[in-house]
Amino acid sequence: MAAREPRGVDASDEAVRGTCDDASICKRFAVNIGYWVDPYIQHFVRQAKERKAPEISRGYYARVRAVNQLLDAFLERTECNCQVISLGAGLDTTFWRLKDESRLPKKYFEVDFPIIVSRKIHSIKSKPPLSKPIMDTHSGQSLLIDSHSLDSCRYCIIGADLRNLPDLEEKLRKFNLDTQLPTVLVAECVLVYMSQEQSANLIKWASCKFHTAMLINYEQVNMNDRFGQIMVENLQRRQCHLAGVEVCQSLESQRGRLLSNGWENATALDMMKVYSSLPQNDVGRIEKLEFLDEKELLEQLLLHYCISWATKDGQNLGLAEISF
Ligand SMILES: C[S@@+](CC[C@H](N)C(=O)[O-])C[C@H]1O[C@@H](n2cnc3c(N)ncnc32)[C@H](O)[C@@H]1O
Repeated sequence: MAAREPRGVDASDEAVRGTCDDASICKRFAVNIGYWVDPYIQHFVRQAKERKAPEISRGYYARVRAVNQLLDAFLERTECNCQVISLGAGLDTTFWRLKDESRLPKKYFEVDFPIIVSRKIHSIKSKPPLSKPIMDTHSGQSLLIDSHSLDSCRYCIIGADLRNLPDLEEKLRKFNLDTQLPTVLVAECVLVYMSQEQSANLIKWASCKFHTAMLINYEQVNMNDRFGQIMVENLQRRQCHLAGVEVCQSLESQRGRLLSNGWENATALDMMKVYSSLPQNDVGRIEKLEFLDEKELLEQLLLHYCISWATKDGQNLGLAEISF
C-alpha cells in the first residue's frame, strides 16, 4: 500500500490544483471583455461570478501575449518540426489556437495532476468544438482515451506529478515523446508551487533530455519586498503555499536557476518591461477597453511577475536570438 502523504501536503496540493480554475476564470473574464480572442476557453470554465479588476485583466493580457510570442517564435524557428510540452497546463487552450492558425507542432503534450486532466478530458469528450480539432488531426489507430490520459496523433494529455520525474518520463515516452525533436517546454505559473530543489530537477531533466530545446517560464519575481510578502500571505490564507518562492527573489535568481541547470542561454524580464515591449498598437487597443484607476497597482503587479526563457541549440536554429 502506498504511504499516505501528511495532511498538510494534501491540503497544499489541493490548493495548488485550485489555481487552475483561478487562472482560467480570469482568462475567460478578460476574453469576454475583448483583451484577446479565445473561442475555446468558454468550454472549459464558467463565467466569473464577480468582475475582475482591470489591472488583473491587463496582467493576464501581458502574460498570455508574452508566452504566446515566445512559443510562436520557437514554432517559426523550427518550422513546426518540433514538440510542445505544456507543464502544469491546467485548462489552457493553446493547442486549439495553434490548430486554428495552422501552426501545430508534430505533437502537443500537456501534463497536469490526474484530477485536473480527468476534468479536462471530460470537457473535451462532451464538447464537439474541443474534440473535433483533435479528431481532425488524428489518423490511424483509434484514439487512446481513459480517465487520466488522452493520446492522439497531434495532441496528448497526461496525468502526472511534475515532481516525480521517472513517472513523468515513462508516461511521456509511452505516448511517443521524441527526444531527438526540437522541444519547447512551457511552465506558466507552475514552478513556484514546487520546492527549489524539485523545480531545479525538472529544469535539469529538460535540459538533459533534449539537445535542441527552449524552456519558457512565467511566474513571480521581486518577492522579497512588501508587495511580494503580501502576495505570499494572501495565497497562504487560502492554504496555497508558494514552495518555490525563494527562486522568485530577483531576475538574476530566475536566470541563475536556468543557467545552473544545464541551459546554454537564459534571459529574464519583468512584466513591466515586457508590457512596454509588446506591440503597442494592440496595447493601445486594450487600454481603451476599461478605465484603469489604479495605474500604480498595475505597475506593482507587473513588477512582481516575470518571464524567463532558456535555450539549448544543438541544431543551430538561432534559438538564442528569440526575444521580444
Ligand atoms: C496557476 S495554474 C496555471 C495553469 C496554466 N498553466 C495557465 O497558465 O493557465 C497551475 C497549474 O499547475 C499545476 N501543477 C502545479 N504543480 C504541479 C505538479 N507538481 N504536477 C502537475 N501539475 C502541477 C496545477 O494543477 C495547475 O493546473
